[in-house]
Amino acid sequence: QNARESLYIVSEFAASYFANELWTGNDGRAIGLSYFKERGFREDILKKFQLGYSPDIWDALIQSAAGAGHKEEYLEKTGLAIRNDKGKLYDRFRGRVMFPIHNFTGRVIGFGGRTLKTDKNVPKYVNSPESDIYHKSNVLYGLYHAKKAIRDLDNCYLVEGYADVLAVHQAGIENVVASSGTSLTTEQIRLIGRFTQNVTILYDGDAAGIKASLRGLDMILEEGLNVKVVLFPDGHDPDSYMHHVGSGEFKKYIEENRRDFILYKANILLKEAGTDPIKRAGIIRDIIESIAKIPDDIKAAVFVRECSNLLQVEERILLSELNKMRVAKL
Ligand code: GTP
Ligand code: MN
Ligand code: MN
Ligand code: MN
Ligand code: MN
Repeated sequence: QNARESLYIVSEFAASYFANELWTGNDGRAIGLSYFKERGFREDILKKFQLGYSPDIWDALIQSAAGAGHKEEYLEKTGLAIRNDKGKLYDRFRGRVMFPIHNFTGRVIGFGGRTLKTDKNVPKYVNSPESDIYHKSNVLYGLYHAKKAIRDLDNCYLVEGYADVLAVHQAGIENVVASSGTSLTTEQIRLIGRFTQNVTILYDGDAAGIKASLRGLDMILEEGLNVKVVLFPDGHDPDSYMHHVGSGEFKKYIEENRRDFILYKANILLKEAGTDPIKRAGIIRDIIESIAKIPDDIKAAVFVRECSNLLQVEERILLSELNKMRVAKL
């Protein structure tokens, strides 16, 4: 048995341990399970994603793993346990609801743990560190459960958080993943590209989410994928909006509010600029920069035409800007 295999095995042990605590432990049921229920998550979803609860004890997992014959070394190497300065080993995750992170073949490689406290000084999420089996930049949360639907439906919804993946699933939309823990990476985009060329972004409707959607998405265009976005009202994220309006209404909202990313970006920037001609000129450059990322010339030409209408600028001016940028890139 090789070293990586031992890390998978101890991670899978931990996932079973946390799940068992959630469903059968006194605190797990009273605190963890009731937390998920209050948030409106169904039992089948909690089971499907193997959610769990880590008891608020400094060595609960360590003791249980020792009892089952797992070496401390592997708990340390996965970051499930941490050794302090005095050489004492303690659990990383304590008193949190647990989201196991699976690789796309379904093996457990890490965890996200959410606090149940509302104290602003406690980090909302604690995540497993990088390890020999967990490389954050090429993992998408939920991919194992989503990959078949992504292929079948030829589209991948991308959300920000673990809870969003669960909520969108619960609404009956299974082709959804999150880039949890990191901002989106090129590796993650290429991973999606193995299953589909179409991405629909469902980022949070808060300022951070909108900013992330404007800045980060050119990367997806650069990989040649088609990008659409859906924006949620009143600072909602997919999870809060789904529970707010219900699953039927949620699906309808997504269908009706899907926008092409470039046109969406043009619209937002236009609104910001108002009638100021200098700002408008800046926007034109900004939009053309996004279009210049699209590797397919025909697709790029279609966007130039649409943006020419939207921005009220002659197509040939946009095309000459586009060519200048492409030349600059070479
Ligand atoms: P809920 O409040 O449980 O619905 O979480 P959320 O997913 O809506 O959280 P939020 O929109 O604030 O953040 C999106 C994602 O960023 C989360 O799912 C986490 O993966 C990550 N994140 C949020 N807060 C923290 C944090 O305090 N520490 C770390 N490491 N990651 C965080
Ligand atoms: Mn946050
Ligand atoms: Mn947010
Ligand atoms: Mn959120
Ligand atoms: Mn949320």
